[in-house]
Amino acid sequence: MEEAQTVEKRMLLIGEEVPDFETETTHGPIKFSEWAKDSWVILFSHPADFTPVCTTEFMAFQDIYPELKKRNVKLIGLSIDSLYSHISWVRTIKEKLGKDIEFPIIEDLSMDVARKYGMIHPAENATAAVRAVFFIDPEFKLRALIYYPLSNGRNMQEFLRIIDAFQTSDKHKVATPANWQPGDAVIVPPPKTQADAEKRLKEGYDCADWFFCKKTIE
Ligand code: BEZ
Repeated sequence: MEEAQTVEKRMLLIGEEVPDFETETTHGPIKFSEWAKDSWVILFSHPADFTPVCTTEFMAFQDIYPELKKRNVKLIGLSIDSLYSHISWVRTIKEKLGKDIEFPIIEDLSMDVARKYGMIHPAENATAAVRAVFFIDPEFKLRALIYYPLSNGRNMQEFLRIIDAFQTSDKHKVATPANWQPGDAVIVPPPKTQADAEKRLKEGYDCADWFFCKKTIE
């Protein structure tokens, strides 16, 4: 009992390599690390198939799926439901709501993956995953994670925005300010020496002060 609680409370930390696993999905069996190889990944959990908020989320995830693919991001869902339930739900979404769900969904009746990833929050629900999202980079490292409760659906535009921000930071070695959108100015990393601080002000950046400089990237 104590062990199970400890495992359920394990939270993945930003910068760590994410746990690998083998599983069944609606697109067939996968070894996660091989499926994810050389791609960014958004792994998300939802509480249950055939529930209304989750249905709206699945349709919204499908809506951003082409944009994710353009950014080399693979998308995969998970819930504590069977493969048959997933397949049936996806068929229902297509039949009743006209939306073809193209990304795979993990079967996790054993809760093995959900526990490894800290998706079960017993104070919220002991048998269903919360609405977790894990942003994983091509090095298989966790870049960000979010948790939402069962009652509220997530904002897909923020997922695209944060992927754009990560990819911009990696490519240009910059940070991004609050509410950044692609095309906005980015933050130049602060100087680490007094001499660099002096130099920084003459480098043509848009500086409010020596530690706070922005630039636009082409
Ligand atoms: C929903 O997706 O609608 C939902 C799922 C679990 C609990 C409450 C709502």
